[in-house]
Amino acid sequence: MINFNWNNRSEVNKFKEVENNYVQMINDLNPSLVVDVGCGRNRFKGRINNLIGFDISDTSKGDFIDDLLNVTYDNVDAVLCEGVLHFDKIEKRFKHILEWVRPGGLIVMRVNIDSGFWSMKKIKTFEKQYCLENPPLYKNINYMISPAINGEGRRVQWIWKTQQ
Ligand SMILES: C[S@@+](CC[C@H](N)C(=O)[O-])C[C@H]1O[C@@H](n2cnc3c(N)ncnc32)[C@H](O)[C@@H]1O
Repeated sequence: MINFNWNNRSEVNKFKEVENNYVQMINDLNPSLVVDVGCGRNRFKGRINNLIGFDISDTSKGDFIDDLLNVTYDNVDAVLCEGVLHFDKIEKRFKHILEWVRPGGLIVMRVNIDSGFWSMKKIKTFEKQYCLENPPLYKNINYMISPAINGEGRRVQWIWKTQQ
């Protein structure tokens, strides 16, 4: 586990390295389909191959606009779910997303660990319950914790891999 400090430039650079690493991991799957759910600015478009980003907000830069619960996919190689499952219906939404992913596919998660729902214990419970592996995000880092911005709560990021 690593804690990041946004005020320290070398740590911010490390954060970028971590992101570049999972972008590479996903591209190394030679993916036919990657979904960025709640994509916001759609920042992975053009960096990850065959990526579709969508978002519920019409101010986003999604390829289309919809609530994730209305969206169905099959056999997705990787899903990015960053900053989306923070508040209500978390498990229902997570289970819905998990159904899209092919066996051995990846899910990049980022959550607010101070939102009241998530905790490291909860993450481990989900891992067990849904038979998920936890490959490193970068080198030997499995979980990356970044501090609260504007007092909104710490963010934790990690990768889950579904069973083969
Ligand atoms: C904190 S932003 C993160 C944006 C992007 N994933 C990123 O990391 O830069 C959360 C995004 O999730 C979207 N979102 C929240 N609930 C959603 C839902 N049910 N279906 C689709 N998008 C949703 C919001 O509109 C918002 O753009």
